Amino acid sequence: MSAALTGSGPVAIVRPAARLRGELRLPGDKSISHRALMLALLADGESLVEGAGDGADVRSTASIAGALGARVERVDRPADAGGTVDYVVRSPGADGLRAPAGALDCGNSGTSMRLFAGILAGLPMTAVLDGDASLRGRPMARIIEPLRRMGAVLHARHDDSLPPVTVVGCTPLRAVDVTTPVPSAQVKSAILLAGLRADGETTVREAVATRDHTERMLRARGIGVRTTGSGGQVVVSITGGGSVAAGDVRVPGDVSAAAFWLVAGALHQDAELILRGVGVNPTRRAAIDLLRAMGADIEERLVGGSSGDTGEPIADLTVRSSALHGIDLAPWDVAAAIDEIPVLCLAAAGARGTTTMRGAGELRHKESDRIAGIVAGLTALGAKIEVEGDDLTIRGGGLLAGASVDSLDDHRLAMTFAIAGLIANGETSVSRPGSAGISYPGFFADLERIRA
Ligand code: S3P
Repeated sequence: MSAALTGSGPVAIVRPAARLRGELRLPGDKSISHRALMLALLADGESLVEGAGDGADVRSTASIAGALGARVERVDRPADAGGTVDYVVRSPGADGLRAPAGALDCGNSGTSMRLFAGILAGLPMTAVLDGDASLRGRPMARIIEPLRRMGAVLHARHDDSLPPVTVVGCTPLRAVDVTTPVPSAQVKSAILLAGLRADGETTVREAVATRDHTERMLRARGIGVRTTGSGGQVVVSITGGGSVAAGDVRVPGDVSAAAFWLVAGALHQDAELILRGVGVNPTRRAAIDLLRAMGADIEERLVGGSSGDTGEPIADLTVRSSALHGIDLAPWDVAAAIDEIPVLCLAAAGARGTTTMRGAGELRHKESDRIAGIVAGLTALGAKIEVEGDDLTIRGGGLLAGASVDSLDDHRLAMTFAIAGLIANGETSVSRPGSAGISYPGFFADLERIRA
């Protein structure tokens, strides 16, 4: 197969498609897959994680669960299962875990590093969390500070801000009341997972509600987690000292992966795409709602919640060619759609009128500096995009022209630029397309499938 088909070469060449048609099954939701594996590790007994994402990030979490003492068995699923995988995890539970023999390799995965830091903070062992060059540049003070307040000892490079992170755990931890410095589900989840092992009630306050998969899954496993407030401040509290029950989770399709096809379908002149089994949790679905506000023709049919009582809603989505127009995104919209902002910038470039996105600074701290990457890539493709401080302005309506664009080895940028290639005139060449495998190993195969 050529690089254009697989995304496995140094560049992927994407040519415009005459039509987009087909049905896709998305990879299992990355955020939910991480959490299901982590709670399986903390529970005494056997847990099944069905339909997990098979990207490199989730594999990092699975292998760390193994290094900490669980038996993690991978079971491949049928070829039409959207590149998902099942895991059977047998664990001695939090109190039976062992100190790892070497550094725990989180690869490219910020979620693995930050959530495992929260877990390790409450275990009586010392462990080192490390990652690749991208992860070694990502901020960790945001988890180190609250976990220290809880009584764990943490050290990191560069004035305790950058990985590798050494965690010396402590049991029990002190229950704390923390206001998160940035809207971040990773920070919230790290504190809640540490709060499991604290001597009382731990509270996390956020200015903007972030994804609540950790809270849902902990509740399903018998842990007391309460959420109050909405819109303005959200307050989440967890009662420490309980033990997580083993249980099964069926992972929904990843809405962040679905967003690429929603934008492709909405922008393309002759498109109808059906996306099966997508997770539409209210704290994750912002990209769907923002695209609809831009005029996207997206039909949604609920198909029932996931098993294991996590209560994650699931829907089939159908997207058709649409006439998009620009909208204004407030900082809380940006926070709610943080992983989809790159592809929403592409939607804005193809929309009539101007789109603004305020308060997008956190994008600089993702797998790459996504503001720099999206501005360089979309500008090369002929879009008009400007940055002022943390705000983006995209003047849409112009035609995109194929160009050479740099993914910065960032999965969400590689996939965004490949989608642009389906719409743009001429040929688009995307560097380091293999990064798509971080969250969506079958992305380039799906791209070929729907252009038929
Ligand atoms: C994630 C939370 C988000 C998101 C990341 C996954 C999670 O990060 O960007 O891809 O699974 O909790 P932040 O919480 O740091 O914004």
